[in-house]
Amino acid sequence: MKKGLIFLIALSAGLLIAGQATAQSGIAGSGHDMRGLLGINEICVPCHTPHNAVENANYPLWNRTEYVSGIFPGSGPASQVCLSCHDGTVAVDSYGGNIGSTFLTGDALIDSTGEHHPIGTNAVYTPGPEYNNITDDTSPVKTFNSQVECSSCHNAHNMEFGNFLAETMVGSQLCLTCHNL
Ligand code: HEC
Ligand code: HEC
Ligand code: HEC
Ligand code: HEC
Repeated sequence: MKKGLIFLIALSAGLLIAGQATAQSGIAGSGHDMRGLLGINEICVPCHTPHNAVENANYPLWNRTEYVSGIFPGSGPASQVCLSCHDGTVAVDSYGGNIGSTFLTGDALIDSTGEHHPIGTNAVYTPGPEYNNITDDTSPVKTFNSQVECSSCHNAHNMEFGNFLAETMVGSQLCLTCHNL
């Protein structure tokens, strides 16, 4: 009896920890869960919609108008999709055909202030002595049209490595996936 009870307590404690781990590494509760920020009760809707989505060859069921950032000229779709919130030009709550009024500020703002890792036509990826040859099908770190884009280093759903990174920064693994140093 007693052993059974202890087992049950241990099991539920384990489930609790596992549950928390899932909540922390996925999108729920992350910066991309905008329920609190926008006062809405859904998670996916600022980015996706099941119906009447914007036709966007690059992004599935996209709920935001296609956007080309003037702040990062030369950036491809796999960056523009992020910059449609992160360069601070378009409101986060401009989705589903509505014009919103909540703009990103602070650290989340990626604009012309300061320098950033080159993207788009400024970061053409040519495997060779300086760069490893990444296999886009299997690598979490990808190139898009042979270019480095926001989505090369990031994954909008995954907080496993923090900061929606596609690969761990422990030992700078993310950087060393591409840079052969
Ligand atoms: C902040 C914007 C954002 C939010 C919020 C978001 N997604 Fe996404 N989603 C993306 C982007 C960007 C891609 C394209 C990923 C890529 O190509 O690397 C994507 C791709 C997908 C895909 C295609 C498969 C994949 O993983 O690439 C599915 C399925 C998906 N999202 C489901 C969801 C669901 C379900 C939710 C809500 C629980 C959600 N997304 C919330 C940005 C978002
Ligand atoms: C619909 C708007 C929207 C889109 C599209 C979007 N983001 Fe975000 N992002 C946010 C918001 C809101 C936050 C939270 C900002 C804050 O906490 O101040 C955030 C936060 C982040 C953060 C900081 C991590 C954290 O702890 O909050 C990173 C990194 C990030 N986004 C990367 C991306 C990348 C890369 C893409 C494209 C694949 C993307 N985002 C697309 C709205 C968006
Ligand atoms: C070469 C890889 C790489 C590229 C390309 C990249 N990022 Fe990041 N990003 C990172 C890393 C690594 C961090 C975490 C930095 C740290 O730990 O200090 C980060 C952090 C961030 C943050 C959080 C900043 C903060 O201080 O909280 C945001 C937002 C973000 N990136 C958005 C973007 C957007 C938008 C793009 C495309 C314009 C982009 N990133 C392109 C690697 C990259
Ligand atoms: C997806 C592959 C990829 C990843 C991941 C990546 N880089 Fe790069 N990096 C490149 C490419 C391509 C260039 C551009 C080379 C060029 O065109 O001059 C570059 C350029 C640079 C430069 C030179 C910038 C300049 O203005 O000349 C530095 C420094 C750098 N990367 C550091 C990093 C760091 C630090 C990380 C990890 C946070 C990282 N890179 C991750 C591919 C990558």
